[in-house]
Amino acid sequence: MYGQKWRSCLAATAAAVLFTFSATAQAADIKLDIKESVWELKPGLSTTVWTYNGTVPGTPIVVHEGENVTIEGVNHLPVTTNIHWHGLVVPNDQDGPGRIIELGASFHYEFTAKEAGTYWYHSHYRPVLTQVDMGLYAPFIVKTDADDKYSGDHILVLDDWYLDEHGNRLMGTARGDMERYGNIETVNGKTGDAIEPLVFRPGELHKLRFINASTAAYHTLQLAGHPFRVTHTDGHPLVEPYTTDKITLAPGERLDVEVAANGKDGQIYHLTSDRPELGINIPIEYKGEAVSPVASPFVPPVSKSFPGIAEKTPDYVLELGSTMMNRTAVQGEKMNAMHDMAGMNHMSMNHDDGMMTNDMNGSTNQMKMTSMPAMQWTINGKAFPDTEPLKVKVGQVVKVRFWNKDTQGMHPMDHPMHLHGTYFQVVSLNGKAPERETWKDTINVPAGQYVDIAFKMEEPGMWMLHCHILDHEDGGMMTMVEAEGAK
Ligand code: C2O
Ligand code: CU
Ligand code: CU
Repeated sequence: MYGQKWRSCLAATAAAVLFTFSATAQAADIKLDIKESVWELKPGLSTTVWTYNGTVPGTPIVVHEGENVTIEGVNHLPVTTNIHWHGLVVPNDQDGPGRIIELGASFHYEFTAKEAGTYWYHSHYRPVLTQVDMGLYAPFIVKTDADDKYSGDHILVLDDWYLDEHGNRLMGTARGDMERYGNIETVNGKTGDAIEPLVFRPGELHKLRFINASTAAYHTLQLAGHPFRVTHTDGHPLVEPYTTDKITLAPGERLDVEVAANGKDGQIYHLTSDRPELGINIPIEYKGEAVSPVASPFVPPVSKSFPGIAEKTPDYVLELGSTMMNRTAVQGEKMNAMHDMAGMNHMSMNHDDGMMTNDMNGSTNQMKMTSMPAMQWTINGKAFPDTEPLKVKVGQVVKVRFWNKDTQGMHPMDHPMHLHGTYFQVVSLNGKAPERETWKDTINVPAGQYVDIAFKMEEPGMWMLHCHILDHEDGGMMTMVEAEGAK
C-alpha cells in the first residue's frame, strides 16, 4: 500500500517532503485517518493542522489507470467533514459533497480511476475555505506506464498560510484584498530551506506535477535555464504540448510539465515563484555523471474536440459578479434546506460579523477567519443556493459561457471556475479559439473577459459548478449542473 511506503519513506529521510515515487505497483486500498495534528513548515515554525493521515499534504493516493479504488477511514477531527475527488469522474454518490462524515464516523468510497492524470482530493464541507486552509488536501495521481519512463516523477503541491511567528493562525488576509492570502508559501507543506531539493543527473528527463491547493493564491513559477514542456492541463494530455518559461496555476488547477536536465554535475538551480520572499524556492541539485539524454515517453492523444463547437451558441451564459448585499440568518436556514434537497451536507453560514466559526464549539482551536462582511459572490446576480441550476442531459454536448463582469468598483477579480463530474474543452477566450486544444476541469476567467467551455456529462446527478477561490465559493459563486438520463 502506498500509505505505508510513504510513511517509511518519511521515516528514512526525516524530511522527505518531495513526493517522488518509484515504479513499484500500488494497491488501491487506501486508509485515511482524518485527524488534527501539528505540522512543521520549517524548523521552529509549526502549526495546528487538519490532515489526511497526519501530514500536509495528506497521503498521496497513487493508483494505476483503470484500477478500482477503495478508500476508507475514520473522521477523528473535532468537526464534520467530507472528501471530494477533484477532477476524477466518479458516480455522483461518490463525488463527496453529498456525503457527510460526522465526528467519529467511518467512511467508505469506491470508484474506478478511469483516466490517468494529476488530480487531488480535499474537503468540500462548507465553509470549504476553513477546512482546506487547515490542511485537508492531498494529491490523487492516476498513472500510466509512460509515467514510469521518466527519470523522476515528482508531485509538488503549492499552498499558502497566514501565521504569526509562533505558528498561530492569523485572521483575515496577508494582502490588502478580501480573499484569504498567506504570508508563508509552501511546497508539499514545507517552506524556504525546509523544501527538499530535487536531484537531477545531466541528461535526465523529469516529470513535475504541480497542484495549486491554495484557497485563493495564484502561483507563478519558473526554473532558470530550464523551460517547462507542458504536457497535461488539470490531468488531461495535450494534443500539442508546448514549451514555456513560466507557468501560472490558479487555485484548483494542475499542470504536468517535463523538465530536461540540461545542467552540469555540481550545479544548483532554483525553481522559484514570483513571490520568492514567501518561501517557494525549490533547489534543483545536479549530482552525478551525465546519462544519455532521456527521450520523452509522452505520446500526445488524438484530438477529441467537439465537432462544430466553436460555432455553437452557448446553452448557458453565466455572469460572474459580486454584490455587497447582506447575508442573513434566514438565508442560512434556506441554504441548509437547499443542501438537503440536493442531498448535500449541512453547511454553516458566515456570521454577519464576517467570522466563520463552523462546528468548532468545544474545540481547542482558535479557528476564526475573517471574510469580508456582507460580500456576496454571484452567478447571474444570485448567490448559491438561489442560483439557477443548469439542466442538461447525460451525453448532451453543453456549451457554457463564463462572463466575468466582476470589474466594477474596488474589487475586480479573476474567477477560476471548476466543474464536478466531468471535464471540459476550452472553446474560446473572448471569442477567439485557444492556441491549442485544451481540456480542463478548472478554468481561470480573467476579470472583464469571457471564456466558453463545452462538456458532456457522463453520469447523472447534481454536480457542482463553482469558483475555486474558496472565499468566493463559500460566498455564493456556485451553482449546480443537473444531469438527467441514464449513462
Ligand atoms: Cu476542488 Cu468543488 O472542488
Ligand atoms: Cu472538484
Ligand atoms: Cu471567484
